[in-house]
Amino acid sequence: MSSHASRVVLVSGAGRGIGRAMADAHADAGAAVAYLDHDPDLARTAAEAARARGVNAVAVSADVADFDAVAAAVAEAAAALGPIDVLVNNAGISPKTGADNRRVDAFAMDPAEWRRVIDVNLTGAFNCTRSVLPGMRDLGRGRVVNISSVAGRTYCDIVAVHYAASKAALVGFTKHLAGELGPFGITVNALAPGRIDTPLMRGTAPEANEAVRAVTPLRRLGSPEEVASVCLFLTSDAAAFVTGQVCDVAGGWLMT
Ligand SMILES: NC(=O)c1ccc[n+]([C@@H]2O[C@H](COP(=O)([O-])OP(=O)(O)OC[C@H]3O[C@@H](n4cnc5c(N)ncnc54)[C@H](O)[C@@H]3O)[C@@H](O)[C@H]2O)c1
Repeated sequence: MSSHASRVVLVSGAGRGIGRAMADAHADAGAAVAYLDHDPDLARTAAEAARARGVNAVAVSADVADFDAVAAAVAEAAAALGPIDVLVNNAGISPKTGADNRRVDAFAMDPAEWRRVIDVNLTGAFNCTRSVLPGMRDLGRGRVVNISSVAGRTYCDIVAVHYAASKAALVGFTKHLAGELGPFGITVNALAPGRIDTPLMRGTAPEANEAVRAVTPLRRLGSPEEVASVCLFLTSDAAAFVTGQVCDVAGGWLMT
């Protein structure tokens, strides 16, 4: 498949899980791909996986919460691959507590942990978007996909308030930018995954994930590849007239 042959894609948090699957899916579709992560070994592994597909790929290292580091990583990626015209804001964290990996209750939450979750999940998306936007404006086209969560759209008792707030904020971030950037030929959409089988999800107590499966209409958890295929649609020409939308990829769980 070469639907994305002339595209240059940057995926944050591409070292593993959903981000890795989305970066690999774009490489499979013929795009040049920058794998951004703060784990340099994982990012290198991902870049090697893409090279095996016969496309250009680079691994760039940055903590998405650090604007200067992100700007440098984006510049490094663009110098190697060309101007970035597809950005996927995926890097995210969901801290848990205790031996059974429960959510952190609001009344016990450390303000430093609140700040870190907002810094990574929300400000990280701003930092990456801010760094690629001048190039997209100059190109006259661009695609941004933000990875929110069903927990940002409705109450979900597995996650904590910092995570839910950050993911809800990404919905406002998406809709505002879609309005502001549409005239420049840039679309901005969000995906809201349900329970997807990744290292992050496995950090939650198994009983909690089983309880989700039992009430999910499709009666199973999702795979990273199932999120990646919807992302690939949103960044493809087939979705050229879709902007400002939030699409659940959740098997019907917590549908709003
Ligand atoms: N797995 C789920 O069930 C689920 C559900 C809804 C939404 N999401 C969202 O999807 C995204 C990916 O989740 P996942 O399950 O693949 O997570 P994961 O923990 O398996 O992978 C996250 C990746 O992001 C990277 N990362 C984390 N913090 C970073 C930072 N500060 N700077 C750069 N890279 C960083 C990690 O190194 C890792 O490679 C997250 O935004 C998450 O909130 C996941």
